[in-house]
Amino acid sequence: MIGLGPAVPANWYLLGRADGLRRGAVQAHTIGTHDVVVWRGQKSGTPTAFAAHCAHMGCHLARGDVIGDRLRCGLHHRMIDADGNFGASGLRQAALPVAEYCGGLWVRIGGAEAVPPLEELGLEGFAACYAGEHHFPLPWQALVANGFDSEHLASVHERRLLAPPTLDCHETTSIVLRYHTRPIGKGLADRITALIGPDGIHGEITSRNGAMMLVRSRVGQRRNFILLSFVPTAAGGTCVRGIVGTELMRGSWTQLQGRIAARLFKAFLYKDLAVLEGLAWHEPAQEDSVGDRFTRELCDFFRGLPHE
Ligand code: FES
Ligand SMILES: [Fe+2]
Repeated sequence: MIGLGPAVPANWYLLGRADGLRRGAVQAHTIGTHDVVVWRGQKSGTPTAFAAHCAHMGCHLARGDVIGDRLRCGLHHRMIDADGNFGASGLRQAALPVAEYCGGLWVRIGGAEAVPPLEELGLEGFAACYAGEHHFPLPWQALVANGFDSEHLASVHERRLLAPPTLDCHETTSIVLRYHTRPIGKGLADRITALIGPDGIHGEITSRNGAMMLVRSRVGQRRNFILLSFVPTAAGGTCVRGIVGTELMRGSWTQLQGRIAARLFKAFLYKDLAVLEGLAWHEPAQEDSVGDRFTRELCDFFRGLPHE
């Protein structure tokens, strides 16, 4: 999206479930203009990410095989160590940092100085599970702006604001929206949410480096989170992948709790799908509301983001 910050911000990007990459498997992924392969060592079980095209003569390494803890290129069968070295030849494959976090497999685009470690999200004490992906023909900025659009909480999500929302920018890499709402919809998910939390929903949405959004909420005694990764596609759209989590209470994480958290999350997001279809998003035409002001501040935040 021209003029609204980097097309692929320096960030961690979620590629899928960590256990979806089995020992000995190779997967191809695209993050904007970056073609990447991830593979898992047969003996060590360690995941590794490389630039997708072989440094020797450009073969796509998804055509290769994992042999032990090395990747063998499909074209000339040269062996590449997990650190990117081609044995003693001096040739080197570009490697990217990989992390397994909250049940997801993540790859970092950009340097460590611009992208904090995932552990700094502070999600210890939560049980988490991968919640799937959804493709949108929209740039990441439009989708993140939708998440931060406090005005649409009422119109689309049927949430009444119980207090004025606040927006705070922290340095250049993080911006936080806080709100207190009550569900007023008649759907099952809204009624369950209202039942669990009679004093409403305390929400906090943080964008980290633009293309990652952490939604924390407290409903009654229950704290949940949704961690969304906005992965740019080669065609200019976005694949949104999510992880949902719920706070471990008395050590009681059950699969049922996970499924309920994932279901409520999806019910919330599905309300966006209809209005996002055909959206030609732009900044507010004028500043008529607090929501308009926040969206303009968010756009300034996008413009100041570090590039990869
Ligand atoms: S292109 Fe990969 S070994 Fe030759
Ligand atoms: Fe929304």
